[in-house]
Amino acid sequence: MNSPYGNRILITGASSGIGLAAAEAFAKEGYTVWAASRRCEERREGNCRYIRMDVTSEDSVRRAYDKIAEAGGVAILLHCAGMGIAGAAEDTPEEAVRRQFEVNYYGVLRVNRIFLPDLRARGGGLVLVMSSVAGRVPLPYQSHYSATKYALDTYVESLRMEAGRFGIRAALIEPGDTKTGFTAAREMALPEGSPYRAACEGAVARMSKDEQNGGSPLAVAKICLKLAQKKHPPVRVTVGLMYRIVIFLRRIWPAGAFEKVLEGMYR
Ligand SMILES: NC(=O)c1ccc[n+]([C@@H]2O[C@H](COP(=O)([O-])OP(=O)(O)OC[C@H]3O[C@@H](n4cnc5c(N)ncnc54)[C@H](OP(=O)(O)O)[C@@H]3O)[C@@H](O)[C@H]2O)c1
Repeated sequence: MNSPYGNRILITGASSGIGLAAAEAFAKEGYTVWAASRRCEERREGNCRYIRMDVTSEDSVRRAYDKIAEAGGVAILLHCAGMGIAGAAEDTPEEAVRRQFEVNYYGVLRVNRIFLPDLRARGGGLVLVMSSVAGRVPLPYQSHYSATKYALDTYVESLRMEAGRFGIRAALIEPGDTKTGFTAAREMALPEGSPYRAACEGAVARMSKDEQNGGSPLAVAKICLKLAQKKHPPVRVTVGLMYRIVIFLRRIWPAGAFEKVLEGMYR
């Protein structure tokens, strides 16, 4: 372990998938890990301290912050708490859209608002945000999920420019399909009589299959470990050559042609 930010890290969404793999990987490297999620027994296991935190609740984040601060605080934040609600762009109920933003976007803002003053007081730190390839390449029936990740993209770019003067670095990690609990936890938000039902269910079945045949969460965790060692991390790291190519093609192909390919994949 050789991090310019010290060896104390908070990981949100650490009860499953990428967050859990990251908690185990950082602990193995000798970091003191605060592994936060809603579903956990608060306990200590080796270098890992499991702590309850619901990122949608200001009180819950503050309670966790108080416990962590009392034990010496952290200088690295890794945001993995997230969920997906699939549905049509037109008729996904607003409640479902807001709920998704509450976890994926406002959850990150809330945790940062509460922890960043401490990072500033320490003279710096690192904020790693789990975005997604879906935050660069929107897919059908994932518009609102993608919107949460696009929102994170602009937020992190601005945060870097603003908080850099306090020694705070930030980066986005963009995994593609990864085999985690995300697929089973995904909700569908299709109102009664939605004309999109059959097409949406078909597209989501394809996406679920791709996720479950996807990469390992450990591969994403290893990238987080590498980023934690960089004094000047890049704005974003896309996980996997195939997804880097997809993003490159999106940039150079005519938009209409790229859209046709994606549409065809999920028809
Ligand atoms: N899997 C993929 O293919 C993929 C691809 C690209 C990006 N991502 C992103 O990677 C991140 C991690 O997802 P994953 O794939 O590892 O899924 P996962 O296995 O379902 O893990 C999601 C984690 O988020 C936590 N969580 C959910 N709601 C929360 C809340 N309100 N407060 C605190 N924690 C909450 C869950 O724990 P509790 O339920 O215990 O709270 C769980 O630990 C997400 O941001 C996701 O968007 C995933």
